[in-house]
Amino acid sequence: MRILVMQASPNEDGLTASMAKEAMAGAEAAGAETELVHLRKLKLAACDPEDEDGWGRCRRESLCIIEDDLEMVRGKIAGADGIVLSTPVYFGDVAEVVKNCFDRMRRCERAGPAEPRVEGRWVLGIAAAGGGGGGGPTCLVAMERYFAHLGMPIFDQMVVTRRSREYMLAAARGAGERFVKYIEEQRAG
Ligand SMILES: Cc1cc2nc3c(=O)[nH]c(=O)nc-3n(C[C@H](O)[C@H](O)[C@H](O)COP(=O)(O)O)c2cc1C
Repeated sequence: MRILVMQASPNEDGLTASMAKEAMAGAEAAGAETELVHLRKLKLAACDPEDEDGWGRCRRESLCIIEDDLEMVRGKIAGADGIVLSTPVYFGDVAEVVKNCFDRMRRCERAGPAEPRVEGRWVLGIAAAGGGGGGGPTCLVAMERYFAHLGMPIFDQMVVTRRSREYMLAAARGAGERFVKYIEEQRAG
């Protein structure tokens, strides 16, 4: 069982990263192999479609014209059984780097003869917000839409705020552990 943990905050000790690390520890406690990816350390540019109809190489070949780390991330997701995606909430949305990554990936996978595909990889989504958590729910809606377009089933999505930090860190560990067991149960039928 492989779980890819993706965290999207520039702050490696902040709320987003801490939630990711707790979920990762929970997944490891349940026996999963894990890998942590810092999205902000990668090159993930914004989508730039080149055709007049708004599509491009993504539709024809399931590949993006921009040569950066997208294909590497896509390959890592495809090679995992599930992902934990922990993003800070920015303006009630996912962080820009998450948007860049998933905007482009869904184009490639929606239209073209994609191989490898991320379809079917399970998701645990985490939205880390500021004090009051305004924008947390809309961030989850944005994530939910990406995963729906990519055919990635959602195990759970959580909002954490600075106020709920303490008890939500414990929840993230529990969620990571249960996530792995749940995928195993799904596989066993
Ligand atoms: C550009 C920007 C926009 C933000 N927008 C929101 C927001 O809409 N709602 C919210 O609750 N917090 C917002 N925040 C606060 C972050 O979500 C909060 O600081 C987050 O927990 C960062 O976590 P970190 O410690 O992992 O960096 C924003 C922060 C930044 C930098």
